[in-house]
Amino acid sequence: MARALARGWARPVLCADPLAERARSLAAEVGGEALAGNADVAARADLVVLCHKPAQLAAVAAEVAPHAKAVASILAATPLDALREAYPGRPVYRFIPSLPVEVRQGAVVQAAALEQDAELDAAVGELFAELGTLVVLDDALVDVAMGLMSCGPAYVALVAEAQVDAGVRRGIPAAQGAELVVQTLAGTAELLRRRGYDTTAVRREVASPGGLTARGLAALERGGLRAAFSDALDAVLGEARA
Ligand SMILES: NC(=O)c1ccc[n+]([C@@H]2O[C@H](COP(=O)([O-])OP(=O)(O)OC[C@H]3O[C@@H](n4cnc5c(N)ncnc54)[C@H](OP(=O)(O)O)[C@@H]3O)[C@@H](O)[C@H]2O)c1
Repeated sequence: MARALARGWARPVLCADPLAERARSLAAEVGGEALAGNADVAARADLVVLCHKPAQLAAVAAEVAPHAKAVASILAATPLDALREAYPGRPVYRFIPSLPVEVRQGAVVQAAALEQDAELDAAVGELFAELGTLVVLDDALVDVAMGLMSCGPAYVALVAEAQVDAGVRRGIPAAQGAELVVQTLAGTAELLRRRGYDTTAVRREVASPGGLTARGLAALERGGLRAAFSDALDAVLGEARA
């Protein structure tokens, strides 16, 4: 995710990683510098973006907190209170991004918080808003949102793959099937945005009464599509700390 964020921002970064080569290759790609460790990044950065695993919160804070001016976390299952405890007295921000931030088409969730420093709050919000669509939610809902938008790219890729495979079974070459399916996803996303996210209206426009799409939709319902997505969210929330 660190790499996806940096690619989306497309400006020089200061970065560190336990595997030095990984940090070096990121700095070589987007510009900036790979530093020796987290403390060095914290000492020089205006904002430290935490991109490690949730279980590493305390260990990383021990290195970063003494030096950091401000901290933005993208850690799943790590509420604002836990961040404030790890970074006492520092402005802390909680975001959850999604992989398409890399192409500035991501959904990003921000946990709502009281004002810390008006100018910094605005600057940090604007920074993450560059990556796509920023939605502010109550901290308690951030992990639920993560189960939709942060896991979403994997789900959408699976849905696309399943459709392409269905086409292959009926003779469509995989490459052309993928072009058709992926462009349909992208175009439908844009259409939904322009229609105010009204999914039912778009669905009704395509599915004429008694028509072919209505039959296809009924087959998807029989296959348990809605229940499968609901189960997927439950599974994610049950394992958010894994
Ligand atoms: N993947 C997503 O789509 C997504 C979306 C939203 C939020 N998140 C959150 O983003 C965070 C990173 O997820 P990811 O999928 O990018 O995981 P990842 O690929 O495992 O990346 C974590 C990186 O942090 C490094 N790291 C480990 N210990 C560190 C330390 N002490 N200091 C600095 N860096 C350290 C890891 O190095 P090693 O590999 O050597 O341990 C690795 O390069 C997680 O907290 C996750 O909850 C992920």
